[in-house]
Amino acid sequence: MSNCQVFGILMMSMSDKTKQLYIETYGCQMNMADTEVVLSVLNGAGYTPTRDASAADVILVNTCSVRDNAEARVKQRISELKTHKRNNPDVLIGVLGCMAERLRTELIDKNNVVDMVVGPDEYRKLPALIDDAYAGQRGIAVKLSRVENYDDIIPLRTEGISAWVSVMRGCDKFCTFCVVPFTRGRERSRTLKNVVEEVHMLSAQGFKEVTLLGQNVNSYHDGESDFADLLDAVAGVDSAVRIRYMTSHPQDMSDKLIETMAKHHNICKYVHLPVQSGSNRILKLMNRTYTIEQYLGLMDKIKTSLPGVSFSTDIMAGFPTETTEDHQMTIDVLKHVKYDGAYMFKYSPRENTKAWEMGDDVPEESKMERLNEIITLQEEISLELNRSEIGKTVDVLVERDSSRSPDDLLGRTDTNKKTLFPRGNASVAEYRKVKIERATAHTLFGTLVNEN
Ligand code: SAH
Ligand code: SF4
Ligand code: F3S
Repeated sequence: MSNCQVFGILMMSMSDKTKQLYIETYGCQMNMADTEVVLSVLNGAGYTPTRDASAADVILVNTCSVRDNAEARVKQRISELKTHKRNNPDVLIGVLGCMAERLRTELIDKNNVVDMVVGPDEYRKLPALIDDAYAGQRGIAVKLSRVENYDDIIPLRTEGISAWVSVMRGCDKFCTFCVVPFTRGRERSRTLKNVVEEVHMLSAQGFKEVTLLGQNVNSYHDGESDFADLLDAVAGVDSAVRIRYMTSHPQDMSDKLIETMAKHHNICKYVHLPVQSGSNRILKLMNRTYTIEQYLGLMDKIKTSLPGVSFSTDIMAGFPTETTEDHQMTIDVLKHVKYDGAYMFKYSPRENTKAWEMGDDVPEESKMERLNEIITLQEEISLELNRSEIGKTVDVLVERDSSRSPDDLLGRTDTNKKTLFPRGNASVAEYRKVKIERATAHTLFGTLVNEN
């Protein structure tokens, strides 16, 4: 190797120290948490995060593939970045996450703008891939791993009092509509010991809320401990830190897990339990592994063990072969359960999934009608439930200033209800009592109860 080359490498790593990195994140909370892992990996390699894309040397887009419209948004964004790159030819652009995993070389071949394509299990390679890209070599790293869980990487958290903590990755459930098992690979869990250590650290840093994350968080198993053990240990770290988790699958919602939730006051009494459909025929075609009767039985058990618990769910309209009768069964479940909130989607066919082969036979118009009916009903139910909070005094963890009014603060109840109130003498990161006076379907409005 000549001196000149050595000098070149030295110059490169010195200039890297001042590089600005901008990341944009789409998709689920797992992606948000992964972005913090990426920031940590690249910060260690000398990149400084910036909130200003126009000032960045490296722009990364962490993407989602779950529905076609999620991908369409990212494609639109990539075409905008094309103009940016034309005006700033030295900027490097990388696509990360689930679309990187699903579309691979297509992202590089189709656009003359993407320099790197990096799947969810390959983030440790980012510094090397960026160096390669600076040397003129476009890189692609999309191998899925059976072991990678970034257990030793401390995510670079940039704001707030709530922290995401990924405890497991991947999904083995293979619901027939879903790309996640293909984009995220097989399930693997971090060790209980490391997760608990991380939560100790977060508590010492002043975080007030920890959300344990996994695509199937309650199927967590580190070889010795299951998710109930993990939750028990994490809740025991600091009783002033609220613990939440998502997303659970009904199949793994064990009695032991419900008992653990009842045992600790700092485990939020809120369960997000996706039902998807109210029709057993459709649930079977979806490979959801439960019947609606089993699901409703589970909800009753949770309600009995956790008085005052709130629920949310995911619902899909227009799965292949769904009839108006099937749809009506979904409506009946919504009316029966009365979820506090729901994420509601129109079925979107994904290539290579089992459901893809079933065709997409529900006409767009019917899908839209069914989805609208679901949304309208759910809004009424959310409003009714939120109105029933009027007059009550609730415990709120104050999370941030309201973005709408400088005089108000925003927090959430244990049951995950967004609550807005005039700031008075309250500050962010405190637990305060708020008397509810007014409600919409999505927000409670109240005033501080001053205790002294
Ligand atoms: N692991 C979670 C959620 C994963 S994706 C679970 O098991 O529930 C989040 C939600 O997106 C799903 O619950 C489902 O309602 C929706 N979804 C997934 N694939 C979809 C598709 N092909 N079309 C429409 N919605 C979809
Ligand atoms: Fe997708 Fe089903 Fe896995 Fe959830 S459980 S990520 S919906 S395959
Ligand atoms: Fe989307 Fe991937 Fe999450 S497909 S929902 S970003 S796991």
